[in-house]
Amino acid sequence: MPLNFDSRRGPLLVYFSSVSENTRRFISKVGLPSVRIPLRRGEPPLAVRQPFVLVTPTYGGGAAERTVPRQVIHFLNDPANRQWIRGVITAGNTNFGAAYCAAGPIIARKCEVPELYRFELLGTRRDVDTVRDGLLRQWDRLCAGPRPLPQP
Ligand SMILES: Cc1cc2nc3c(=O)[nH]c(=O)nc-3n(C[C@H](O)[C@H](O)[C@H](O)COP(=O)(O)O)c2cc1C
Repeated sequence: MPLNFDSRRGPLLVYFSSVSENTRRFISKVGLPSVRIPLRRGEPPLAVRQPFVLVTPTYGGGAAERTVPRQVIHFLNDPANRQWIRGVITAGNTNFGAAYCAAGPIIARKCEVPELYRFELLGTRRDVDTVRDGLLRQWDRLCAGPRPLPQP
């Protein structure tokens, strides 16, 4: 069953978070409408049919094939989900050096959307405010995007 949310009213965040739940805690502090990509195989797949910004942590520790969590790949492999992505926000840990937030540019390139922001671990209060305010301000522009909106 597709997620039923009226994105004309404001931003929707689609996010992934593993068992450590750093990203989930960040999302709950941002406080905008959100939906989580299922963590475990066997959970019903998520279907989104309206514009959203994806928030994902980076994994893999520099191993290219595991940088984007497999659950996120699975979600984006569905073209009916992918057509609604309007931007990506990436989490990571600067301890990973050159691989810091490496999932962001990969997704941005594949889906042809901007990488809007990066934050570390749970994010700071400033990260939370920047993301919330930025999305509220830019949502209409992001929805209009370079791509016309498909009719629901
Ligand atoms: C096994 C493992 C590999 C990771 N690899 C990277 C990485 O390559 N680049 C990066 O920026 N962060 C990396 N991280 C840090 C995570 O992105 C960070 O801890 C994030 O907050 C996890 O979010 P989550 O708790 O919502 O899953 C890695 C963390 C783990 C546990």
